Amino acid sequence: MEKTGVLYAGKAKTVHTTADKDLMVLEFRNDTSAFDGERIELLDNKGRVNNLFNGFVMEKLQEAGIETHFVRLLSDHESLVRNLKMLTVECVVRNRAAGSLVRRLGVVEGMELNPPIFEFFLKNDELHDPMINDAHILTFGWATLEQIAEMKVLTLRVNEVLKKLFADGDLILVDYKLEFGVFDGRVVLGDEFSPDGCRLWDAKTMEKMDKDRFRQGLGDVVESYMEVGRRIGVQF
Ligand code: C5P
Repeated sequence: MEKTGVLYAGKAKTVHTTADKDLMVLEFRNDTSAFDGERIELLDNKGRVNNLFNGFVMEKLQEAGIETHFVRLLSDHESLVRNLKMLTVECVVRNRAAGSLVRRLGVVEGMELNPPIFEFFLKNDELHDPMINDAHILTFGWATLEQIAEMKVLTLRVNEVLKKLFADGDLILVDYKLEFGVFDGRVVLGDEFSPDGCRLWDAKTMEKMDKDRFRQGLGDVVESYMEVGRRIGVQF
């Protein structure tokens, strides 16, 4: 599938148009950003690892009946995806307390959250992705009531599939962020699922194996992403 232009260049991925208006090429770059893009570094091999990781997870979700934008891998760094009209909110599910939840509410990191906590954030770097609720989304027209309900249902279904997938690899899925878009009137999972957008801890040692390694300067970032991938069956 030939690329015809750049639609959007984000912090870690570039979206390319194709001759087919319904299809796009998602390019995973080596850029790694943290703190709303204040820190960006190139990490060797990260684009390739996240592309393969994401393709594997998206296929697992599709096998479980969750519709995603992923069509197929095109190369080491590129995937073919359907062109969704993205909703500008981020959906976060938390199975354990970590990150901004700990900072906001003063709860202990690692605390099990039962039932899991669902949160919406506005996708807006300048405003530092503020937390929002259903009322904000409805009033400002960022999504409809039906789309809000669908995003919650789908995000929690993803949780059931992925908690088990990672648990089988001796990993705890602590939390993750998903983004959805609309295709033919349906709410469909878009963006990516990779260790850049979730927290994964080793179930025995509780070692952090995700992007917190980059945020917290722990080193071996891409090596950890690959280790996580191998444990769930990704072939690098
Ligand atoms: O920072 P916070 O604790 O709210 O993040 C929750 C989860 O969502 C983490 O796994 C984080 O990596 C992910 N996230 C993300 N992109 C953002 C915000 C959060 O991938 N813009």
